Amino acid sequence: MPLLHFVQSIDGYVTNEGIEVIAQKLELATAEVTAVSTFYTQYKSKPVGEYHVGICTNTLCAVMGGDAIFESIKEHLDIENDGVTADGKVSVEHIECNAACDYAPVVMANWEFYDNQTVESAKALVDGARAGNPPAPTRGPSRLVTYKEASAVLAGLDDGLAREGVQVGEPTLLGLKLSKEGKQ
Ligand code: FES
Repeated sequence: MPLLHFVQSIDGYVTNEGIEVIAQKLELATAEVTAVSTFYTQYKSKPVGEYHVGICTNTLCAVMGGDAIFESIKEHLDIENDGVTADGKVSVEHIECNAACDYAPVVMANWEFYDNQTVESAKALVDGARAGNPPAPTRGPSRLVTYKEASAVLAGLDDGLAREGVQVGEPTLLGLKLSKEGKQ
């Protein structure tokens, strides 16, 4: 799996050439590597944008505004789900729950969190990304890296940013506190 991320860090998605190299290195059939890469949605079979934006449209995020954000961003960028802007800068997909429901509605860009989003803040995110100057994630690193750079980190190459910034927010800590007090 790290090798699939590594391929994405080079090619921007999981190419057939990348699958063949992995299969050779690990002495597997290409079908076995393909089976893994097509099972997980984090592995892309076609190019995504330099900044890949995932908008949570699972139940809680949806009712808290995720559905409206998803529709607004698609219209704003004039693309469909899984689409990429003509300049290749931004792609958008709807994503499932990222276990960040206490920050709903949640948007992710290159797998970094943008919590408590609105239509306006999500538009600012994609507009900034298209301009090459995306706002910083609300948790984690102090700046948003590109999809290829994020893939390199997922492949195991430390960029030194992973331990930056807010790691856990107040809503999560409050939930933990209440749980320990037996109130939930
Ligand atoms: S429903 Fe969106 S993060 Fe859980």
